[in-house]
Amino acid sequence: MLAIAQNRLREKAFMAANGLPVPPFAPVHSAADLHTALAQIGTPAVLKTAESGYDGKGQVKISHVAEATAAWEAIGRQPAILEGFVPFVKELSVVAARGQQGDFAHYGAIENEHRDHILYRSISPALVPYEVAERAIQYAQIVLECLDVVGVLCVEFFLTADNTLLLNEIAPRPHNSGHLTIESHQTNQFEQQVRAVCGLPLGSTAQLRPAAMLNLLGDVWPAHGQPAWAAVHAIPHVKLHLYGKHTARKGRKMGHLTAVGETVEEAVVVLSEAEKWAEGQGSGGAEERLIADR
Ligand SMILES: Nc1ncnc2c1ncn2[C@@H]1O[C@H](COP(=O)(O)OP(=O)(O)OP(=O)(O)O)[C@@H](O)[C@H]1O
Ligand SMILES: [Mg+2]
Repeated sequence: MLAIAQNRLREKAFMAANGLPVPPFAPVHSAADLHTALAQIGTPAVLKTAESGYDGKGQVKISHVAEATAAWEAIGRQPAILEGFVPFVKELSVVAARGQQGDFAHYGAIENEHRDHILYRSISPALVPYEVAERAIQYAQIVLECLDVVGVLCVEFFLTADNTLLLNEIAPRPHNSGHLTIESHQTNQFEQQVRAVCGLPLGSTAQLRPAAMLNLLGDVWPAHGQPAWAAVHAIPHVKLHLYGKHTARKGRKMGHLTAVGETVEEAVVVLSEAEKWAEGQGSGGAEERLIADR
């Protein structure tokens, strides 16, 4: 299972072989392969290293064939995959679990917004037609069953304007987009992972309330000290999670915020308020922030 999920070529081949819809793709092992692949797939396209990429690392977008050589150099001339660039309207994920007896549970479709290739915000449930969410869940179930997974796994999707779902990738573990299940669902993805691998019955994935999650990147850390956590804590229905990383760096995931609400829209509004404080732009600016921090 890991052999498939850790190699983008094997991963896409596995999906296609099991009848799952994927963007057009081709293997690339040389500069010559890349030209052949570009002739086949066209532009725009995305060249990705076959292994060890995350948060968009090891990926280059190719808008014109003339950029091919530079792209091949940029990814370090390693085994790669060329994918057609998908003009998606939304990105979705389905976090799901399979137990030792083959039992299945899922957290529905989650909607994800990326910035600079890094997950920025997730909302649950996704604001998509019921039929689209159901189809995404079915595809996820096929992935877990075909890979004979025991544990939590996430499938990432692109949704296009005509409601076509294409599988992007598989993350064989609890996933960043599932962090909001801590506040929003009866059994969160981490407890579910433990239940699955220990051979316990899977817990209920009933959704208790809509939620929105925002990743906290090192970018929002001031040069000294911490963002205005006291002000964030003062907002009802927002929870702060910090991962205990000592050094804040640009683009590094340091923690996340989750807001819950009666509706997803309400959760998003509350989350935006918390985001302003975390970024140091809370209603009163620097002075109030200092007061709030005391
Ligand atoms: N073929 C594509 N067409 C359009 N956008 C794409 C494509 N592939 C990747 N992207 C964009 O880049 C993001 C990151 O890509 P992907 O999920 O493949 O890589 P990753 O670096 O492994 O990310 P992760 O942090 O999820 O492991 C996607 O969520 C999407 O926004
Ligand atoms: Mg991804």
